[in-house]
Amino acid sequence: MPLTLTKPMAKTSKKISSHERPNKIDVLEITNLHANIGELKILNGINLTIRSNEIHAIMGPNGSGKSTLCNVLMGHPKYEVTKGSAKFNGKEILELEPNERAHLGLFLGFQNPLEISGVSMGSFLRLARNLNLKANGETKQISPMEFMPMLKGTANLLKMDEKFITRSVNEGFSGGEKKRAEIVQMAVLQPKIAMLDEIDSGLDIDALKIVAEGIVETFKKNGMGILLITHYQRLLNYITPDFVHIMAKGKIIQSGDKKLAKELEKNGYEKILKNIK
Ligand SMILES: Nc1ncnc2c1ncn2[C@@H]1O[C@H](COP(=O)(O)OP(=O)(O)OP(=O)(O)O)[C@@H](O)[C@H]1O
Ligand SMILES: [Mg+2]
Repeated sequence: MPLTLTKPMAKTSKKISSHERPNKIDVLEITNLHANIGELKILNGINLTIRSNEIHAIMGPNGSGKSTLCNVLMGHPKYEVTKGSAKFNGKEILELEPNERAHLGLFLGFQNPLEISGVSMGSFLRLARNLNLKANGETKQISPMEFMPMLKGTANLLKMDEKFITRSVNEGFSGGEKKRAEIVQMAVLQPKIAMLDEIDSGLDIDALKIVAEGIVETFKKNGMGILLITHYQRLLNYITPDFVHIMAKGKIIQSGDKKLAKELEKNGYEKILKNIK
């Protein structure tokens, strides 16, 4: 059974810019999802529904399958889906290519972002944004003249040096800069469902706050659904999740609200994990 948790209607005070979807609720519904790498079973029946305006945090021990879940949803070819479904607004996505999933509005901020030599961050992001617009039937493309001020504004929000726009994607970026760059990407691409895999890892205390504020700003503006994977309650002090799920051995074994993350921090996983096979 998919989780049927719902949260009260989004606050009406939320700012949503006019060209975005003011009333449409996007839904990613994951049902009984199983996935392997070779013979190794990693996901063992994930049930989770994420809607616009909802923030779901997933916590769980190392190796429990959190990154695998994101990669499978994004269409990484390394994984084989053996059972289950993932529907975005009713459409099965597991058969689609990664770029098709991105065009539908799925986004993954990587735990370990890749470097792309020879492609500047600015060109990469404008191309990605324009491809998204085109795939969604927009005839108008964003010119560099229009795009650059927007990108600079986003970079400033994340307190990134504007010089990064002309640098190759992630090349030579520090760990923290890579994480900020993932959020800049998210802000520019305006996904409908954003998965952020350990966006807080490797960030110093000030950078954590800046990145968290960048996420919250983008969330307030775009009202997307967010899947936030983290090991640390401290990120959730800045980004209040509507739901907290604990994943272990490829399954969500417990769901609750932000209090669950606080309990975890206090007690660790031992008690919760004792009863699972
Ligand atoms: N290519 C691979 N070959 C073999 N095992 C793999 C491969 N990729 C992932 N795994 C295994 O799948 C399991 C789940 O990994 P995953 O990265 O999804 O965990 P995670 O919950 O994200 O962990 P962490 O909190 O450490 O990031 C791990 O035991 C990992 O070793
Ligand atoms: Mg991981």
